[in-house]
Amino acid sequence: MYALINDTATWIRQRMPNSPETAIILGTGLGELANDITDKTEIPYETIPNFPVSTVEGHNGKLIFGKLGSVDIVAMQGRFHFYEGYSMKEVTFPIRVFKALGIKTLFVSNAAGGLNDTFEIGELMIISDHINHFPEHPLRGKNDSRLGVRFPDMSDTYSARLRKQAKEIAKRNNITVKEGVYVGTSGPTFETPAEYRYFKLIGGDAVGMSTVPEVIVARHAGLEVFAISIITDLGVDGKIVEVSHEDVQKAALIAQPKMTTIMRELIQPAH
Ligand code: HPA
Repeated sequence: MYALINDTATWIRQRMPNSPETAIILGTGLGELANDITDKTEIPYETIPNFPVSTVEGHNGKLIFGKLGSVDIVAMQGRFHFYEGYSMKEVTFPIRVFKALGIKTLFVSNAAGGLNDTFEIGELMIISDHINHFPEHPLRGKNDSRLGVRFPDMSDTYSARLRKQAKEIAKRNNITVKEGVYVGTSGPTFETPAEYRYFKLIGGDAVGMSTVPEVIVARHAGLEVFAISIITDLGVDGKIVEVSHEDVQKAALIAQPKMTTIMRELIQPAH
């Protein structure tokens, strides 16, 4: 795997216009941020050696190198979900490549179902911690110590520094943000009422089908991580209604400007 990662990184390095230390996974609700990127070089996933190819509706797969304000960044437009059939190694491969390219900080967004009964649809939740409920672990297998340690610490997974800054930015912009624990589960089914109750009972504030694998690998690789969810539906007793992918996308669109504001400012150097 180490050789594959480095082959891919070498190929990308020959095509990238800058040397970013910041990577962004443009998950649900961050699509618009791509429009703010200047001096773009786009690399479709299907052209990148060893990269999986994204298939899900509403996600086009490419890396976008460029600038966000004054900061060099690389963005993933479209991510690889476990429910699509990718292995955990495939889902997290881009993170390994980012590390090899010199990335130091990873920003992630996603859509999630709210479990906390104080949450409303369309609100944002800064992820303070997670529960890994995926059936397969991205680090299972022989550990390559060039990539990270065998038993990574997870006590400080979501950067306290970036969470504090994000809350300050939200306050300045009159954006309500919640903070909480994200449960990552495989999907593709949304939860039954009993499953929503269970995820709440084990300590979750929101549940979704992504992020946890990428974050685990990012921490294994020593990257600083910030992640934020849009609450697109509620798995709260008494408030559970039928939910579809379209409902999720619709709620995410409404919250998108708030999410974009926070991310855009957070990625700029602190003054
Ligand atoms: N459950 C799981 N994933 C989700 C949900 C949900 O309710 N909403 C958006 N992604």
